[in-house]
Amino acid sequence: MPRLSDEKITEIRQSVDIVDVVGTYLPLSKKGRNYVTICPFHDDTTPSMSVSPEKQIYMCFVCHNGGNVFTFLKEYLKLSYIQAVKKIAEIGRVDISEYQIATEAKPVNKKFEPLYRMHEEANKIYSHYLQTKSGLAAKEYLHHRDIDDAVIDAFEIGYSLPQSILVKSFGNMGYTQLEMVQSGLVIESKDGYDRFVDRIMFPLHDQDGRVVGFSGRIFKDSKNEAKYMNSPESDIFIKGDMLYNYHRVKETVRKAGFVIICEGFMDVIALYRAGIENAVAIMGTALTNGHIKALRRLTKTIYLCLDGDNAGRQATLKCIEILEKQKFQVRVVELPVNSDPDELLKEKGKEELQAMLKEVKMPIAFHMNYYYEQTNMQNYEDKKAYLERMVNAIGTLKDEIDREYYIEILEKQTGFSKQIIYNSLSKITNQLIVPNPETVTYVRNKQLIDKYRQAERNLLYYMLEEREVSKRYEKQLGFMIDTVYNIIASYIVDYYRQHFVLEIADLINSIEDEKIVQSIITIAQLSLPPIKEQEDGNVVYHYQVIDDYIKMIKEKVEIKMKKQELKRALEETFDPIQKARILGEIIALKERK
Ligand code: CTP
Ligand code: MN
Repeated sequence: MPRLSDEKITEIRQSVDIVDVVGTYLPLSKKGRNYVTICPFHDDTTPSMSVSPEKQIYMCFVCHNGGNVFTFLKEYLKLSYIQAVKKIAEIGRVDISEYQIATEAKPVNKKFEPLYRMHEEANKIYSHYLQTKSGLAAKEYLHHRDIDDAVIDAFEIGYSLPQSILVKSFGNMGYTQLEMVQSGLVIESKDGYDRFVDRIMFPLHDQDGRVVGFSGRIFKDSKNEAKYMNSPESDIFIKGDMLYNYHRVKETVRKAGFVIICEGFMDVIALYRAGIENAVAIMGTALTNGHIKALRRLTKTIYLCLDGDNAGRQATLKCIEILEKQKFQVRVVELPVNSDPDELLKEKGKEELQAMLKEVKMPIAFHMNYYYEQTNMQNYEDKKAYLERMVNAIGTLKDEIDREYYIEILEKQTGFSKQIIYNSLSKITNQLIVPNPETVTYVRNKQLIDKYRQAERNLLYYMLEEREVSKRYEKQLGFMIDTVYNIIASYIVDYYRQHFVLEIADLINSIEDEKIVQSIITIAQLSLPPIKEQEDGNVVYHYQVIDDYIKMIKEKVEIKMKKQELKRALEETFDPIQKARILGEIIALKERK
């Protein structure tokens, strides 16, 4: 069977109108050449999302979610790319039956059916007994922890009797002891006995919402028993990959725009009681690849809300590292020392918990706080170690303003001069990072700074519109100063090598980096004056604008190079008169900007 070719994918995309597809899910109203609607990808109040029938793309001006019709379905229905393509093919009635399409939908494995059914049954049994006289003490415990009947219902909380009740029921249902043992719910012995006895039972669901395991909590002053007992791993339950509550949060995560990660399921339940429903729990373990995969399908933005004890803080640092490497946007909810969301709710109430979630921190801020508290600033070596650690962290920041901001804090905290901080930063990033007067006086100079970037951006806009512009860029310039713009430019140049007319919705198909796609969409949505006009029946091009942009960018590159040259010369010269002359030149160059 052949695979879907690029041409076929384009055919599928063109078989529908993005306006119709988005319109089946969201109410659209016409505004100028585009349609607008309330953006479903963040908490939107005014219509920020616009859909362009001409360009066949959509884009939110606030949260910057954007793309073509495939991207939309992917994001809105949480599908994989290939599932989205398939769905559009269905809508557009493009026959793809002859193609080999691997969708990730898990085949339902008949072999595991008994395991699922036993879990479903166990869940019913546990739920039932919590409501009986035998479950009274368990229920009182829950009520005492402010878990009322509605919450019990919502999370399907139950109770396991002191007797082996499951063995009996499963036997009546016709299951063999081998099957019971495979489920993990029954422990092997002559007659078999229940794993969970006299515990409050929390069902654990897989991502499709099927019960695949349990966690049981003791609730009496107990002998030396573990607080929680969990199902062992089985064919249907991988404990390390479990994200408690995952199957319930799709909708609320979409509305909020982020998911909250807690350590324990009691915390998820506490947040729920406080009206916050977009939380999941990693069940006291480290983040696994399984977690990451599942999270990626959910959202790009993650709020870490782990316990406020030392273990929780260290876990937070580890999670930040993993998630950022995986390109998630991470924020940290910093809980008071030694408390978890459940305790915080109990002690401080709903409002306090809600407020904490509004005060999320950037990972670097959390990082700084954490190590600052542990550093004795009176001790030179400690202080230096702290500086080095923080310089490393600052070096990972992409945003210049953020960098500047934290460098300033670091200077205040340690007393090391900014120059030293810049030097260390330059060392680790292998590039010259100098105090940037542009950033410091950002607002005043904004227009000046933006001039060149804007030229590059506008040039890209016209390159997207006109093949000839791309040709001119290729011949006369060939690169851009802004790294992202430079990448985009090469994508465009590449695209024109294979196509005569550029379709944005098509171009972005082949680009995996979502940041780049967003950037392209943003640029495409600019409305700059056309360079192509009809005059007396003839088409007239205004290429002067393009050449001006190119000239301007070239000039900037030259200044930049000249400046670097002068700086090198300055370092190498010892003659004070020479030094003064070079400095004068540098200043003169700065003024040219
Ligand atoms: N955990 C576990 N076994 C234990 C202790 C904890 O599996 N003996 C897991 C559970 O999934 C629990 C999570 O780690 O949800 C977090 O543990 P902890 O913070 O100790 O539990 P809490 O959420 O504070 O639970 P509680 O308030 O009931 O004490
Ligand atoms: Mn707790």
